[in-house]
Amino acid sequence: MVENQIKTILCIGAGYVGTPTMAVIADNCPEYKIIVVDKNIDKIRAWNSDSLPIYEPGLEDIIKRRRNKNLFFSEDIATSIKEASIIFVSVNTPTKKFGLGAGMASDLQFIELVARDIIKYAQEDKLVIEKSTLPVKTAEALSRVLHSNDKGLKFEVLSNPEFLAEGTAINDLQHPDRVLIGSMKTESGIESAKILRNIYTHWVPTEKIKLTNLWSSELSKLVANAMLAQRVSSINSISALCEKTNADVEEVSHAVGMDSRIGSKFLNTSVGFGGSCFKKDILNLVYICRYYGLNEVADYWEQVVIINEYQQNRFVNKVIDKMFNTVVDKKIAVLGFAFKANTGDTRESPAITVTKMLLKERADVAIYDPKAIENAKLDLADYSQSNNLHFYNNAEDAIKDSHAILVLTAWDEFKELDFEEAYRTMKKPSFIFDGCNILQHEQLKNLGFNVNCIGKNLDRLKDDE
Ligand code: UDX
Ligand code: UDX
Repeated sequence: MVENQIKTILCIGAGYVGTPTMAVIADNCPEYKIIVVDKNIDKIRAWNSDSLPIYEPGLEDIIKRRRNKNLFFSEDIATSIKEASIIFVSVNTPTKKFGLGAGMASDLQFIELVARDIIKYAQEDKLVIEKSTLPVKTAEALSRVLHSNDKGLKFEVLSNPEFLAEGTAINDLQHPDRVLIGSMKTESGIESAKILRNIYTHWVPTEKIKLTNLWSSELSKLVANAMLAQRVSSINSISALCEKTNADVEEVSHAVGMDSRIGSKFLNTSVGFGGSCFKKDILNLVYICRYYGLNEVADYWEQVVIINEYQQNRFVNKVIDKMFNTVVDKKIAVLGFAFKANTGDTRESPAITVTKMLLKERADVAIYDPKAIENAKLDLADYSQSNNLHFYNNAEDAIKDSHAILVLTAWDEFKELDFEEAYRTMKKPSFIFDGCNILQHEQLKNLGFNVNCIGKNLDRLKDDE
């Protein structure tokens, strides 16, 4: 491929990863035309409207700046495939729900469908880039499907995993720690990797762009997510021990993280990690290890997911225990439903597990989230007929007449609530369970609340003083 022909880039999959990534490329590479398509037409229409389908700080500004200049959201997948010489594939790869590997392996049906669309509509050679997180060796399968075309077309497959975190996606894309480009170590593979590198060098320093072999790139993404999640499960496991021993998990986390060999990031205890990637990618890693007969390795990583489930169950058990072993018909205000602050995304959010457990205990659950209420309604659709489930437009109404407040997402606005007023409107005794450790626990205790958080035994701490 000649460099000056490579001016149209297509991304298939207009989701949390595809669109922000393309928006940042469009913003930094004005000479490129970027098209984003999705099989979900409503999503494309929403990206073309004033009401974008996802909330991501800073994204709207870029979309407004670039849309219909060099960033286009199109419903026409066929023409877009014909036009582009570089195609990013950013479709979802959920955990397989059926058949072999159900509950563990990645469901690759969408990737294969995309490959079949590409060979159906392509009229010339193309560079196909895996953006989706995929099991190691997927590029081989993708390449074989692409080369099953009867038009004699050649496709080079690259792996270019995305490391952005939701809520900070634009900054992560603009200032990545590294950009990984995996290719076959053939002449055309290396040449293709350089074509992709030339896009990123518009804004990323060259030394941060790492060219690796395809399999290292695919596997690095899974391992990065597994290691990040492992840190959260590690500190969460210690939070349980802190509550028993009267240690304070935040002091432990701080002290441990000050060791420069360990580092301080991703050591915040919580009610558990959520998000579309961590659980899915670890289960996928576990599945691959078992496939290769590495059972001890598989068990090791599976424990990260098991601790995450344990942490969520432990939280709900504590709520029930502290509230005199029954929450039947007690209004409980769930503040925060997104899997983390600054996103409306609720995929794998601990709030889903917590809410479902509370509903099974017949509590009256009152949910408020500044950005995630619509997704929460979808997640809890099975309970839509329940008289015990209510959604609110503000925290104050969710809290009014409740017995307990559960903070499940670390939104800044929860730190600034008027808790004196909240206490006045609540049933007594009034409980707070801070699943994110973001509130001022001593102040809340002084207001009269029974306060619980993660990894600190607030009552015992007082006894010790
Ligand atoms: C997804 C994967 O979950 C993640 O592993 C990967 O790293 C990047 O892609 P995300 O962008 O968060 O992450 O997923 P999602 O927001 O669900 O977006 C995927 C989009 O692909 C959806 O809009 C879906 O409609 C679209 N899609 C899916 C297609 O356009 N064609 C398909 O065949 C399947
Ligand atoms: C993650 C990876 O960070 C990113 O590189 C990858 O591309 C996709 O998966 P994301 O899921 O968007 O990103 O968010 P992240 O910030 O990693 O948080 C994941 C979960 O871990 C959240 O539920 C968060 O609340 C939790 N977490 C994070 C903790 O509980 N404690 C921490 O110290 C950090």
